[in-house]
Amino acid sequence: VEETLVLVKPDGVARNLIGEILRRIETKGYQLVDIKLFEPERSLLAAHYEEHEGKPFYEPLIEFMESGPVLAVRVAGNRVIEGFRSLAGTTDPSTAAPGTIRGDLGRDWGLKVQQNLVHGSDSPESAARELALWFS
Ligand code: GTP
Ligand code: MG
Repeated sequence: VEETLVLVKPDGVARNLIGEILRRIETKGYQLVDIKLFEPERSLLAAHYEEHEGKPFYEPLIEFMESGPVLAVRVAGNRVIEGFRSLAGTTDPSTAAPGTIRGDLGRDWGLKVQQNLVHGSDSPESAARELALWFS
């Protein structure tokens, strides 16, 4: 069965949305295989976001991800990588579809696209790489 890495980002933890986000994952039928709440080191975040290094939003993104605890979840299910991306909605909460985590719970904070509550791996290769980083 397929596995993906889900992160509840610092905005989701600070806004007490862990339960609501995990409820959506569980009611979809996915299994929570492993879970941990902690403040990630910069080295972990740099490895996680290495594809974005050099982009204008990179530093603000890393600083935001360092701003408080993050919930990391190993989630298993049939086609869960694509399925969780669909549950999460598109990157920018301002335009994410209703019914999605970002569309229903995300705030319209203009340029602060990084505050979009969750992360989900975007391919089997990313999932394997990211799960090894966060659950080594
Ligand atoms: P993740 O599931 O978090 O990886 O989101 P994504 O796959 O929808 O987006 P992507 O991997 O392209 O970007 C990673 C993260 O960087 C996003 O979730 C946002 O938090 C942030 N980000 C992406 N694009 C922008 C942008 O144009 N501006 C800002 N401020 N942040 C961005
Ligand atoms: Mg991504």
